[in-house]
Amino acid sequence: MIDSILEKMTLEEQVSLLSGADFWTTVPVERLGVPKIKVTDGPNGARGAGSLVAGVKAACFPVAIALGASWSPALIRQMGTALARQAKSKGAAVLLAPTVNIHRSGLNGRNFECYSEDPMLTGELAVAYIEGVQAEGIAATIKHFVGNESEIERQTISSDIDERTLREIYLPPFEQAVRRAGVMAVMSSYNRLNGTYTSEHHWLLTKVLREEWGFDGIVMSDWFGSHSAAETINAGLDLEMPGPARDRGEKLVAAVREGKVEPATVRAAARRMLLLLERVGAFRKTPDLTERAVDLTEDRALIRRLGAEGAVLLKNDGILPLAKTSLDRIAVIGPNAATARVMGGGSAQIAAHYMVSPLEGIRAALSNANSISHSVGCRHNRLIDVFKGKITVEYFKERGFKGAPLHVETVDKGEFFWFELPSGQLEPADFSARMKMQFVPEESGEHVFGMTNAGLARLFVDGRLTVDGLDGWTRGENYFGTANDEQRGAVMLEAGRTYEVTVEYEPSITNEDGINLIAVRFGVEKPLGDADIEAAVETARNADVALLFVGRDGEWDTEGLDLPNMRLPGRQEELIEKVAAANANTVVVLQTGGPIEMPWLGKVRAVLQMWYPGQELGNAVADVLFGDVEPGGRLPQTFPKALSDNSAITGDLAVYPGKDGHVRYGESVFVGYRHHDTRAVEPLFPFGYGLGYTRFRWSEPRLSASEMSSEGVIVSIDVTNIGDRAGSELVQLYVRSPKAKVERPDKELRAFAKLALQPGETGAAILKILPRDLAYFDAEAGAFRAEAGDYQLIVAANAADIRFVIDLPSPSSYLQPPSY
Ligand code: BGC
Repeated sequence: MIDSILEKMTLEEQVSLLSGADFWTTVPVERLGVPKIKVTDGPNGARGAGSLVAGVKAACFPVAIALGASWSPALIRQMGTALARQAKSKGAAVLLAPTVNIHRSGLNGRNFECYSEDPMLTGELAVAYIEGVQAEGIAATIKHFVGNESEIERQTISSDIDERTLREIYLPPFEQAVRRAGVMAVMSSYNRLNGTYTSEHHWLLTKVLREEWGFDGIVMSDWFGSHSAAETINAGLDLEMPGPARDRGEKLVAAVREGKVEPATVRAAARRMLLLLERVGAFRKTPDLTERAVDLTEDRALIRRLGAEGAVLLKNDGILPLAKTSLDRIAVIGPNAATARVMGGGSAQIAAHYMVSPLEGIRAALSNANSISHSVGCRHNRLIDVFKGKITVEYFKERGFKGAPLHVETVDKGEFFWFELPSGQLEPADFSARMKMQFVPEESGEHVFGMTNAGLARLFVDGRLTVDGLDGWTRGENYFGTANDEQRGAVMLEAGRTYEVTVEYEPSITNEDGINLIAVRFGVEKPLGDADIEAAVETARNADVALLFVGRDGEWDTEGLDLPNMRLPGRQEELIEKVAAANANTVVVLQTGGPIEMPWLGKVRAVLQMWYPGQELGNAVADVLFGDVEPGGRLPQTFPKALSDNSAITGDLAVYPGKDGHVRYGESVFVGYRHHDTRAVEPLFPFGYGLGYTRFRWSEPRLSASEMSSEGVIVSIDVTNIGDRAGSELVQLYVRSPKAKVERPDKELRAFAKLALQPGETGAAILKILPRDLAYFDAEAGAFRAEAGDYQLIVAANAADIRFVIDLPSPSSYLQPPSY
């Protein structure tokens, strides 16, 4: 069928398929019955085509690092299925997920959006995710291919990675997704790879992806990440996104006419686009692009379950789980207590159906007898608190706020990130909007207004210009580097008085880099100080237990910028110290998108890492704290004692954050635990670490063979829950290699199993390894090589808790070309 359509297509029609129509849809060819389809982010929900922050509501699932911590392909497969339903509710046929870049530095703004520092764990989970999504007829888009491990200069930087490192660490998740899950789409990354944009990288997109791995789906660019007509298509990039065409369209037609691109190349790319449409069923039934909010009980339950399954208990001296009945007075403290921080920032944001804060979750769990007191203590926000309340927005046809508004609407939050304007008569490049709201301070004193804008904006309080986002506007880091840094203005306000706040917004006049985002975010807050820390300490002092909710939020853990360090922002460390000094029963609940340093660790009784687990956050927290469910998570990323112990933080700025437009992956394959183990750098918490509420006994491992052969070897271990509560245990299998001609990591994860067991129950962890699992990539030979010799299998609970070391000779050597 698609070939007969292709036959009838003109060159222009074929080319039209190779750019988006707009931000989220492809170009139809009505004459031949080729419909348009919609794509949507991804990865922790399906947002739809509306605003990044205020579109149609969607189910908000845990972020990828929380899924990485679950070590549960089965649950992630279920989540994939649920996500496919969500994508359908938004009229989308393609989900822009999963993100499988590797946790390299711990400072990547998108660390939260990636599963792990380990390629094997990442690959397993990505395969499960993709299988779940695609089984429902929705295409998954694995991203960002490849070398996008940081947000610094992300549109241009060259990730300089040697081939061995690529083959062993950064490519395997993509390879698994192609070979095992048949992923239908791949998104190239923004960055260059060894000097060439990945969207123009023939070796990457054609030789490795298609020829070696047999990929037959489409490659699309990251948004505005393709920069040429001939180079991209000749390299193997099918779809330029978003649309309308920038470097394709007429330019690509001309490139064909001039002989720079073969007609067959265009035809092959167009064919792959048609094949995608066929695979998602777009020819069977014309896609209905309407968006609906579908909030299902089963999604709620799965999200809640995943939240607890990814929660990592890092420390517990026995205080957890808390007994609901024996606690009279509970203090719930911290900047993450009453505000639900459910997801990271950037393109992964969605408008969640609802968000349960920890305070709400705890209240719901305890219902009656106990007294719960709350105090915020301090702030940690990077940007001023966003304005919440009724805002009237008037949209005008042109710049300058002239005449009567064309459209008026009311919203409840001071953040606008438009992909579509509310009226078809409004031009994104030439409109203006005036937002009017009232602000009534609760307390008297200095308040700070803040605003960041992609475009030009001014904020007035009672008619006085208070924040100027117009004069002297310069590009900063917000909104993917298209907005200015937050501008602020302080004013003295009186409690109870009504202030009229107005924001005037216009798109910018220039259009640098072709990226013309239209967005503005504004807010107001009363700075917190010593008195607020004191109030929190007082709250803690008067309680039986102090639950301290600290961490970051999606303004820190976000696409568009890396983190400045691995410390808790604001005065949170001080807050922890002071609360712990006032209450000996202090439990810290952390929410970050990656590792942090914990100088206060010795002073608190327990630490629970919750990450950003989606809309059921508070319920999942309460489930774990009160022991209704065990904390099922184990770290997917090493937590170093200090940032300087991290494998990418070598002191050489060329290795991180990069220098002169290049970031050199100089640590090569020694990423995460591969670095800590090999270089004997003791971590704060090792890879795979996490406590539960019960205990297990492991049997001696049994091996299916005493030496490696092409059949592989199966290792089985019986695990018995010898405690009196249900719980789960992670069994990891690493390989340690004899000396090779290259330096190899001390050990490398090759298989794992997570068993959920009732008290007294025994289960078997069955772990299979193949000759390829013994191998490293021999760049000279261009193949995976395992020399003959004495290998060891290491059976462990985490990278630092080794239970058994088994000798495994491999009498023959193996050489496997990448295109096996
Ligand atoms: C991100 C992608 C995302 C795309 C569309 C880009 O900024 O890097 O991950 O899918 O935007 O929102």
